[in-house]
Amino acid sequence: MTLSFSGYMILKYIADFYFTRVYNMKLKPFIRWAGGKQKLVKEIIQNIPAASDVNRYFEPFVGAGSLFFESNYENSVLSDVNPQLINAYSKIRDNFTRLSTILIDYERRFLLDNQIYYVIRQEFNQHKENLDTNQAARFIFLIHTNYNGMYRINKSGDYNVPMGKTNPSIPKPDLLSAISDKLANTTLVADNYLNMENDIGVNDFIYLDPPYPPFDWSNHQRQYTVNHFSERDHIDLSNFANRLRNLDCFVMLSYPDIEFVRNQYEDWNIVELNAFRSISCKKERKKIPELIIKNY
Ligand SMILES: C[S@@+](CC[C@H](N)C(=O)[O-])C[C@H]1O[C@@H](n2cnc3c(N)ncnc32)[C@H](O)[C@@H]1O
Repeated sequence: MTLSFSGYMILKYIADFYFTRVYNMKLKPFIRWAGGKQKLVKEIIQNIPAASDVNRYFEPFVGAGSLFFESNYENSVLSDVNPQLINAYSKIRDNFTRLSTILIDYERRFLLDNQIYYVIRQEFNQHKENLDTNQAARFIFLIHTNYNGMYRINKSGDYNVPMGKTNPSIPKPDLLSAISDKLANTTLVADNYLNMENDIGVNDFIYLDPPYPPFDWSNHQRQYTVNHFSERDHIDLSNFANRLRNLDCFVMLSYPDIEFVRNQYEDWNIVELNAFRSISCKKERKKIPELIIKNY
């Protein structure tokens, strides 16, 4: 008996699905994300408050959600300013079966002809206001097949990253199903972190992981990325963190060890991690130690 290519793909996905269900797969983010903390998460998690002390977990710069997937809080509020990203989370939570079917089809088509990347990119831009399951699938597919997992948009708000990977590892139904379970009690919000303030109360734990500042602001070029975060934004964030601190919350931030950050958080509890991050310094990149900054 010969098996068609699509028959082979369907059998492979069913096998993967049952294998990982039986062996209880480890959760991990469904995308790579600029500034994602996946490699540091084992160190970061040693600094978080116990689930029994925490009312709700807030992650207002959620990105790929590395800490959320590693931690064990009962009720979480995940938010990010990027509506396409939050749409992907919400469609995984509410409609992962349909999402998986579309992703399997995209992967099959991509493996036959990778120029399909540009067709899906065009559809993604045409439908950017239409946050449905198809758009979530386009977003996840593009992030997995693009250059370096970057999400960059131009001045008109169009996603313009070229194709990168020709052998992508698109998330399989088993991972999406496990993530869907994990997101079941989670509130998802596409908004600026500042607008989350009124929802936060006593004993909530807030993890703030903003886009990183450059080593030196003077040579910093404004980039048209959804991640742009200015010096003023970092000062506003430290005011926000100080207001939360007065609310009797647990507040934790991730930052690189630079003078600007040390000045902003001089009366906080600062922990140096055994990890380094490359950040822009004049025309080069510099390796800077990572910090965890907390109020407890
Ligand atoms: C460093 S990444 C977070 C990475 C995440 N902790 C992880 O492990 O993947 C920063 C995130 O902040 C988001 N962001 C940037 N400006 C924001 C704002 N004003 N309000 C909320 N989110 C913002 C970006 O879209 C990005 O997803």
